[in-house]
Amino acid sequence: MFELTSLKIPLVGVTESAARACAPFIGSGKKDEGDGIAVDAMRVALNRIDMDGTIVIGEGAKDEAPMLYDGESVGTGQGPKIDIAVDPIEGTNLFATDNPGSICTLAAAPAGTMYRPGECFYMDKQVYPRAATGKIDPEAPVAGRLNALADAVNKDIGDIKVFVLKKPRHEYLVQEIYQAGAKVKLLTDGDVNGAVMAILNQGVDALLGIGGTPEGIVSACAARAMGAEMFGRMAPQKTEEIEACERAGVDTANWLRRDDLITFDDILFVATGLTQGDYVNGVTMARDSSAHFITTDTIVIAGANGNVRRISTTVHQ
Ligand code: FBP
Repeated sequence: MFELTSLKIPLVGVTESAARACAPFIGSGKKDEGDGIAVDAMRVALNRIDMDGTIVIGEGAKDEAPMLYDGESVGTGQGPKIDIAVDPIEGTNLFATDNPGSICTLAAAPAGTMYRPGECFYMDKQVYPRAATGKIDPEAPVAGRLNALADAVNKDIGDIKVFVLKKPRHEYLVQEIYQAGAKVKLLTDGDVNGAVMAILNQGVDALLGIGGTPEGIVSACAARAMGAEMFGRMAPQKTEEIEACERAGVDTANWLRRDDLITFDDILFVATGLTQGDYVNGVTMARDSSAHFITTDTIVIAGANGNVRRISTTVHQ
């Protein structure tokens, strides 16, 4: 049986070192500089690990940000063959403006088990907690889905809260949620954060709406690791992307199931907080006369058994 256990701590070291490296840029207004530093730190840390890794979901192509590119080999080349999805800074605007919810995150799984979205940069997503797994029809109208969710989690519909990215494309969705009698947590950025909050039953009961595809695959890994529910379908937004998806014959009508997005149980999701979040603390920095201390807070969700670990690390420099 394939085992990711030996990579757990080294991969935590990857998001931690990216967070430590870019933390001085929190609130600086310089999102690309911060992102570039996180990317470089992640690459250096990944390349120290004994694994034969491939970045199958990088980031940056959507908005030409710095990136670990799709297909890039990482690791020493010795050890297990691993697919890796990365988002060195998820929520670059939140990071640059010191608003809650930015994280350094990655997911890892055996080679060949992660869905590869090609040129599709946007995905329509539905994420629900474990209690709702197998109980939601992704094709049903929003009200039907939210009522099924309320039944599954044993809440009144009025107590159901849905994370939605605050974007013009979601104005109709938000009205549908209100009409169903549920509430909305609207944030400008950070839908991995919204997905993980729904998966952990922390602050919201679901995530709905269109966000980045890389973020969707990372979220699917967190969902599967926890036994939570997720559906995704490609939702190209920009003209060139729409044309590329048409050329590639991408089916934009069909909802992919969680187990199509990630086809194996033994997977890892890791996220280190940058700014303060709902399920991880932000990076803190302190100084005394002789040293400089940086503390990071990381969550690890390990698949096959759905274990959740929280790791606080203080490093002095
Ligand atoms: P970045 O960290 O790459 O800026 O992504 C932030 C984010 O809000 C994601 O959480 C989300 O999936 C995506 O952007 C949505 O993209 P857009 O802002 O282009 O609608």
